[in-house]
Amino acid sequence: MGNEINHHQGAPAYERDHGGGPERRNAYLPISEMGKLAEEGLFTAMFLGDIAGTAGSPAFDGGPPEPITAFAALARDTEYLGLIATASTSFYDPYNLARLLGSLDQLSDGRAGFNAVTSVSEEWALNYSKEGHPDRKTRYQIADEFLDVVTGLWENRSLRYDADGIRRFYADPINHQGKHFQVLGPLNVAPSPQGRPLIAQAGGSGPGIRVAAKHAEMVFTNANTPQQAREYRAQLDEALVEAGRPAGTVPAIPGLIPYLGRTTAEAEERQRALDDHVDYELYAPFALIQFGLEYTFDSIDDPFPLDQLPKPEDVQDTIKSTYGNYVGLYTWISDNPGVTVRDVTAHSLARGGAQHRKFVGSYDDFVADLATWHEEGTVGGFNLMFPTGVIGIRDFVEEVVPRLIDRGIYRGSPDSRPLRERFRD
Ligand SMILES: Cc1cc2nc3c(=O)[nH]c(=O)nc-3n(C[C@H](O)[C@H](O)[C@H](O)COP(=O)(O)O)c2cc1C
Repeated sequence: MGNEINHHQGAPAYERDHGGGPERRNAYLPISEMGKLAEEGLFTAMFLGDIAGTAGSPAFDGGPPEPITAFAALARDTEYLGLIATASTSFYDPYNLARLLGSLDQLSDGRAGFNAVTSVSEEWALNYSKEGHPDRKTRYQIADEFLDVVTGLWENRSLRYDADGIRRFYADPINHQGKHFQVLGPLNVAPSPQGRPLIAQAGGSGPGIRVAAKHAEMVFTNANTPQQAREYRAQLDEALVEAGRPAGTVPAIPGLIPYLGRTTAEAEERQRALDDHVDYELYAPFALIQFGLEYTFDSIDDPFPLDQLPKPEDVQDTIKSTYGNYVGLYTWISDNPGVTVRDVTAHSLARGGAQHRKFVGSYDDFVADLATWHEEGTVGGFNLMFPTGVIGIRDFVEEVVPRLIDRGIYRGSPDSRPLRERFRD
């Protein structure tokens, strides 16, 4: 389950008018409430994205909290829930991050995960004593070396019982002398019951997939159709084999944004009520800002000016944000002639989750949809991003979870294994 970075832009006003939202006295409380509901709903993990600078101002509640800090608190509020924190290999120092995530793994008894991203924002880079954000190829070279260092630090340590019966921590230096990092080691944090945190990766381009194939134990992806999921699976499997790992071993988990109700009409009505809280005139010029693209239009109800956008193949190396997301959006606009500027703004920005698949329909239809994907077997699950956060997850836990269990495609008790083991089958 994802966090409020991906909420519908109308969510806070919707909560105010309909009730049922979290207490918003501080930015942690909504995370805590979502996490506790996720545990009640027997979720594998909560997955917090991270914005390493401002995401435009003003942000709801001052923006989401930093994931590792929030998870340190959530670890005490939950017992089984996996805690996967996004952190950028472009901005952190590997020893620092290995310590922070190693500590989270300790205090959660082996429930921590690291979603390694390279980030996209030029402005964020300027907060980290950098001259700018490197190009994609360089970013992933840095990410690869970064992951070599953190795994080296995590794997060269152990807790052992000595002859006197006392457990002590032993660790070896790693003496890493690389192009981007020089790290002596050892790490000063003891391993958890799962040895080290799970490594996840999010980034869909060729270099991103190669880094995932070498290091990751799960990948967070984008798949709007079973065909896209199959194509991604084939790319990842090819890269896994090249990296000397068996095909099919690293689950790909796409984002999914559910708009649900007892009937399709009710789900559509909920989505409409959220949409009504968005000022589309204000948002429309920023619909493609995540890709660093601008366009002009006369009215938000005109057809979207696709001819003003570059063809994906022409910007594969330069596009801001994830390339796969841009392909998805471009294809969606060209496949749906007549979509308006308002539609694209809703799809790309206002309804949350960038380009992740949005399902609008009844609880029963949603369960049937998930069963079809389950049978197909190309994805290892979904990263659910609820448009209304707490309201959405509560509804899901009450209405969808029991239906999934009845259908035999969901566990009926908490998964208490260390997090890494949960992604192995
Ligand atoms: C599903 C998904 C989620 C991502 N989440 C984050 C995030 O929370 N924070 C971040 O800085 N970058 C995030 N990224 C960006 C990636 O780290 C990467 O920098 C970017 O996608 C460009 O590389 P790509 O073309 O390989 O996808 C995400 C990417 C994907 C595909």
